[in-house]
Amino acid sequence: MTLVHLAASAGYTTPPLWRILTKSGYFLGLSGAIGATVTHATTVRPALRTPGNVRGDVDALRRRTALYLAWAGVVLLVSGYFQLAGRVARAGKGMPFGEALAPGNIGDFLSAPAAKGAWVAQGTLYVVQNALVVLASAALIALFLPRVRRHLDALALTALPLSLAVTLVAAIPATAPKDADKVFDLIFDQVHIVSGTVWIGGLAGLAALATTRGLLSESAGALWADLWRRFSLVALVCVGAVLTSGLWLSWKHVGGIGQLWTTGYGFFLLVKIALVLAMVAAGGVNQFWLMPRIARARRADATASLTHLTLRHFPRVVWAEVALGMAVLAVIPFLSGSARSEAGSPQPVTSGSVIAVGAALVLTLAASLYITVRTSDALARRENLAVA
Ligand code: HEM
Repeated sequence: MTLVHLAASAGYTTPPLWRILTKSGYFLGLSGAIGATVTHATTVRPALRTPGNVRGDVDALRRRTALYLAWAGVVLLVSGYFQLAGRVARAGKGMPFGEALAPGNIGDFLSAPAAKGAWVAQGTLYVVQNALVVLASAALIALFLPRVRRHLDALALTALPLSLAVTLVAAIPATAPKDADKVFDLIFDQVHIVSGTVWIGGLAGLAALATTRGLLSESAGALWADLWRRFSLVALVCVGAVLTSGLWLSWKHVGGIGQLWTTGYGFFLLVKIALVLAMVAAGGVNQFWLMPRIARARRADATASLTHLTLRHFPRVVWAEVALGMAVLAVIPFLSGSARSEAGSPQPVTSGSVIAVGAALVLTLAASLYITVRTSDALARRENLAVA
């Protein structure tokens, strides 16, 4: 069955082009801002502060980081505006997207009175969200100015909570959630968004940073070994969080494994899961193949192979992960509606046994991530490993 057949027969509705572009664009903007600021705080800043780095390397990496963060600010601002217009078009029931871009229509949407029973007007929450977009972007865009770059750490650490708040504020419910399930929906959705954007945005940021290769000294390999080591822990936590929350979201929207290929929603979810598994596999190459060799080259003081591994091999795999991550972002808007409603399955009911199965899956996941770290460490300690 072709996708067109699938879509037509199962009642799947493809979202309009403006919705696809604004939704992917919004998550791209969040990935840039959240991913780059979190990676700066957890990975780049501590690695650059380690004693023994060559001054020129630190300066080159700080300059490139500042430039990347500044561009991330531009993307956040532009995508935030289109995302807001997308909300206006959706609320305007049939309003063409072109009209939704008009400031007057956006103003009406933001100032609409609160719904009955709401503790706050929905528009007010979106005013706060977009004020945060402007503040986070301003902090990042300021880094285009050479004078401001001296305050890179302070600005990145300011933009971090602001960009996290952009997604969290939009999730605040204007009316009290009906039951505990709805609260879990909100929490897992935010965990999913934050961990996914940190993972993809962090990979993209470090891949871009690695293009400074030509400007760096011979001893930059050790610094990059440290950067990759720090980020692999961040990535591992993100993988755990994205898979756990993704599992919850999938169970809410898909009523059985078969629906992954019999419904339009399920089909796009299947594509997304395949892309994510490919990213995990690429991460596995880094963890099991490259990291142990990097650790070994570092111990043996093999400068040339350390530089080769950390600044040629590693970024190549990371670029492949970034490309897969971009494909994940492109698929997200197609997850519209729900496989359950397409297939006429009942709405999910969270029971004790569902929680037990979920907990067992999450424990298995945690155990396999733990084993990943231990195995990678054990491989790093093996003396007879080829260095390059
Ligand atoms: C790189 C990894 C991933 C990223 C960056 C990512 C990102 C996202 C984002 C941004 C959304 C939209 C959330 C929203 O609109 O509120 C989403 C939705 C969703 N994700 Fe993921 N995700 C990833 C992996 C996964 C995995 C592995 C699964 C399944 C096990 C999954 C299942 C889902 C489901 C079911 C939804 C749809 C929620 C809905 O229909 O409202 N995701 N994802």
